Amino acid sequence: MRVEDSKLRAELADLGIEIRSGTSMSELTSLGIGGTTDLLRITRHESIPELLALLDRNQIPYKFLGGGSNLLIGDGELPWIILQLAKPDPEIVIEGNLAHVDAAADLGRTVTFCAKHDLGGMEGLIGVPGTVGGALRMNAGAYGMQIGSYVREVKLYRAAERRIEILRGTQISFEYRHTSFAPDDMMLAVTLELPSKLFKEVLQGIRICNEKRRSSQPLGQKSAGCIFKNPPGASAGRMIDELGLKGLSVGDARVSDRHANFFVNAGQASAKDMLTLIADVRRRVENAFGVKLEHEVVVWDA
Ligand code: EPU
Repeated sequence: MRVEDSKLRAELADLGIEIRSGTSMSELTSLGIGGTTDLLRITRHESIPELLALLDRNQIPYKFLGGGSNLLIGDGELPWIILQLAKPDPEIVIEGNLAHVDAAADLGRTVTFCAKHDLGGMEGLIGVPGTVGGALRMNAGAYGMQIGSYVREVKLYRAAERRIEILRGTQISFEYRHTSFAPDDMMLAVTLELPSKLFKEVLQGIRICNEKRRSSQPLGQKSAGCIFKNPPGASAGRMIDELGLKGLSVGDARVSDRHANFFVNAGQASAKDMLTLIADVRRRVENAFGVKLEHEVVVWDA
């Protein structure tokens, strides 16, 4: 979808919005898959209520992109524009045990920045691609920890109220890869309260997690992390592996040889290829184990 109206483009410029016309979403997603649309970059959080009202008045549908690391976007010309926060400077401010982090900040860099200030707790998230906002929305976790445990406060655009609000951590429920945020809420910033830990100790934890991840996940390949959530008490990766499905392909979409719950784009996979592979694996797991796997990856099909 294209923003062509010159009056609207001028109004967007007044709000500090930068328009990148005809952006291929394959360049903004870790899967390297996705069609083309206009990308609007937001430089000031405070412009968001006015921006969305303007888009609604002009009947322009939109979606809000984080780091694009847990996302499968459809092929071709997309029927909505994409909004994304530009990174502010600085992205992180430390105040004692509190880290005030912009939602656009890179998650891995946030973990190491906090470590350098002798703050730990998030070692498990090292190597998880994406932004802090995306991690927050999904309650990203690994190696026994989840980001939700450290959330003291969240600044977000509340779609239902059409305004920016601050929520305390206790007002939000964080479950396994799920939060109580509404689907159209936009994460803007978070304050994390982290335990004091010496840099060298955090670094040791980071090294261990990095090593575990390197040995079990296809890190150098284009993927969206785990495709399915683990069903209660079971492992989606193990079930897919037990069925001998590693290497199963549709076009260039392929079940990873290293970890069966990672599906990789081994070349020029389309969204259609990937969705066909996901549906096929899901059906086979259901037939064999009677378990309906739930998507972990977010799908924006055109
Ligand atoms: N397994 C296999 N074959 C495979 C993959 C796994 O037999 O191909 C077995 C493993 O040997 C292990 C069990 O399944 O006994 C669990 O595997 P793993 O330790 O790799 O963890 P996981 O449950 O598959 C979860 C998260 C990952 C996270 C790791 C580490 C989900 C869906 N996945 O994977 O998160 O990195 O634990 O904590 O919860 C993600 O969310 O995108 C993600 C990658």
